[in-house]
Amino acid sequence: MRYVDMKHVTPGMRPAKTLFDSMGRVLVASNVVLNESAIQKLWEYGFDGIYIEDALSEDIEIDYMISPALRSEGLSCVREQNIDGCLNIAKKIVEEILDRETLMLDLTDLRSFDDYTYAHSVNVAVLCCVIGVGLEMEESDLTKLVTAALIHDLGKMLISPEILNKPGRLTPEEYEIMKSHADLSYELIRDRYDIPSQVKTAVRFHHENVDGSGYPDGLDASQQTIFIKILHVADVYDALTSKRPYKEPYSPYEACEYLMGGCSIMFDQHVVETFLRFVPLHQKGTMVTLSDGREGIIYENSGFHNLRPILRMLDGSMIDLMASEYLNLTIITSSSNICFSPEEAEKDRENMIHHKRYRIMVVDDMKTNLHMLREILEPIYDVALLKSGAQALLYLQKNEYPDLVLMDIDMPEMDGIETTRRIQEMTNHEVPILFVTALCDKETVLTCRSMNAAGYIVRPYKPVYIKSEIKRILQGYSEVS
Ligand SMILES: [Fe+2]
Repeated sequence: MRYVDMKHVTPGMRPAKTLFDSMGRVLVASNVVLNESAIQKLWEYGFDGIYIEDALSEDIEIDYMISPALRSEGLSCVREQNIDGCLNIAKKIVEEILDRETLMLDLTDLRSFDDYTYAHSVNVAVLCCVIGVGLEMEESDLTKLVTAALIHDLGKMLISPEILNKPGRLTPEEYEIMKSHADLSYELIRDRYDIPSQVKTAVRFHHENVDGSGYPDGLDASQQTIFIKILHVADVYDALTSKRPYKEPYSPYEACEYLMGGCSIMFDQHVVETFLRFVPLHQKGTMVTLSDGREGIIYENSGFHNLRPILRMLDGSMIDLMASEYLNLTIITSSSNICFSPEEAEKDRENMIHHKRYRIMVVDDMKTNLHMLREILEPIYDVALLKSGAQALLYLQKNEYPDLVLMDIDMPEMDGIETTRRIQEMTNHEVPILFVTALCDKETVLTCRSMNAAGYIVRPYKPVYIKSEIKRILQGYSEVS
């Protein structure tokens, strides 16, 4: 079987996997020949792509990490907020995963818009279990961890759908309400004597960052349990790779970049590194283009090096990218996304959320830094580049305030901290400030945090990470989990 983006799904193709809605009802059965109306239905349900059977991929088998029946049982328990059911399902998920021969997360998850929160909880449960196994946890601990994952977002069902699914930026009040979901989930289990305390704390603190900048309590790494750290990584990975009405999904590759970029800020590095061992950056069954122009399908990930899989080429020959004669080849694109340039994808993303074009002011004394940020940001935002604190203040006096300021710290004359103080005073704290700096000593970080900065990014950073951070700030709450 191979994965085909919905844009390339045509009548006559046969799905390799049955496709379900959130109630576990069959939308399209496997092996049924697709017609126009079935394809239309899949579009309406928001599927991003499907697995199909064809000659090229005949012997490529890809298994679900857990059986569709168990997944569907899990979805029901989460939908009905059935805590006893979740405890039971957690055991079954752990048993099924421990029974597997391989833990490679090969299958691109197939899901529709209508089951996001439920599907998310079950996916996070599976991801947590895989990380837990990678960390050699005992079965009883795995069950606790998976239980926490199934329950972690139940509180979201108590939040109004207008806020939960709001496509644009949340107001500060709405954001506060959104943040309350972690406590609301905790409330549902707080008085249950049969639920271990590790589960309760993981549920309550699953949005804590290791640098202490998360919520609800701002716990830092030393105050967090391993359960909290694992749940946070799994939660964000699944949120990033999900398609939502207002955002395209990140590829596993981009999501891994995001996790790596957030190590020691949001995430525990050891947990991220463990997780990455099980995420093939190029998933089995996807078409890719090699640097010599040839196309092939990912046949197998060796599990040893997830950037160098084995491919089957269009002429049927096999290429192992780990073999010495092929080491000069690299995978340059995934063909399922071939009709999309990154700029077009970004434009689409913008159109999907129908918001205005945000304006970003960048303050940095280094020309190279300014240029680099301009290249990353200009396709998406209106960007104003200022070379000093004084110039920034002058700009603000003469122009409409931007939606966000990216601020360097180490600048001659007026440094970024002083400039920020003045900007906050001038704008009455209305404009969020994101520090982008090479400085990461404790004193500077603490000073920035005490100034209520919207974020802090240490150079060198990955473009995908800075874009995500900006999006998170501009949309108030972009962590779509
Ligand atoms: Fe959450």
